[in-house]
Amino acid sequence: MRGHPRLAKSLRKLSQNCGEFALWLSVQSGKLNFEPRPDDVYIASYARSGTTWLQMILYQMLTDGNMDFQHITQPVPYFERALLQGRDLNKLASPRIFKTHWRYSKLPKGPYKRIYVARNGKDVLVSCYYFFRAHSTFKGTFDEFFHKFLVGNVPPGNWFRHVAEWSAHAADPNVLFLRYEDLTNHFELTLRRIAAFLNKDISPEKFALIAERSSFQFMKQHEDKFGFLQEVMLEQGFTGDAFIRQGKTGSAKEHLTQAQDALFDRASSVVIMPAPLETPSRSASA
Ligand code: A3P
Repeated sequence: MRGHPRLAKSLRKLSQNCGEFALWLSVQSGKLNFEPRPDDVYIASYARSGTTWLQMILYQMLTDGNMDFQHITQPVPYFERALLQGRDLNKLASPRIFKTHWRYSKLPKGPYKRIYVARNGKDVLVSCYYFFRAHSTFKGTFDEFFHKFLVGNVPPGNWFRHVAEWSAHAADPNVLFLRYEDLTNHFELTLRRIAAFLNKDISPEKFALIAERSSFQFMKQHEDKFGFLQEVMLEQGFTGDAFIRQGKTGSAKEHLTQAQDALFDRASSVVIMPAPLETPSRSASA
């Protein structure tokens, strides 16, 4: 029998479009439920530009900075993913800090503060290449990725357009436009700019703690609290418990109640297991 490759291709395309439409609907539903507050703070960026670094800096600056969270997106949600998943952001205490990769025009309108971090575009391209090779189905060459990036044919969209749109608002009073390179080369000064923008007085002790906790070494050491795979696992409710667990027989006795045991036996009446192997007796093996 002959296949129908063209029809198959059309159906696949249609199913992808339906999937995208379903995602869009979920985000719209999340947006309708979301109540903006004037003291909300958004950390905005194109992907791979130092967003997680800023999440940690702001989290340490605006809260008591404990490290009790499993993943940074719990205290500092990734805005659009949280909307998509129907997470109730209205339950979070103020001041709420959100991470977003949306362009300026896509964010809710309001007086809240936005901190944008931009990074050298070529470094972003390289970082994105490694990220998408490791975290997506893209397995192409650097050159292939380079050309896709140039025309914005990559999941985070067009870098040039993203930075251009945000930089048009760089002088707005409620926007602080930062550069990743300033954080790297002038960390203390940049931290002071952030604190001034947020009207926060920071004691020297707190300052030292923020610097230590947001250092590359510290964050690398606690990578499971910042990584993308861990974020997705937690969203899905995966705990990451051992797959090769106990490897023992009979542990069900410790778990099933008498009633569960009896119910299971009744349901098993249709199953006929082969008889267990007998241990060979000494005389037989002699
Ligand atoms: P590289 O891939 O170049 O190493 P984002 O959080 O926006 O996805 O950005 C990720 C980039 O920020 C990665 O860049 C990552 O290593 C870098 N980064 C994360 N935490 C950092 C820190 N504390 N100091 C310096 N760079 C950091």
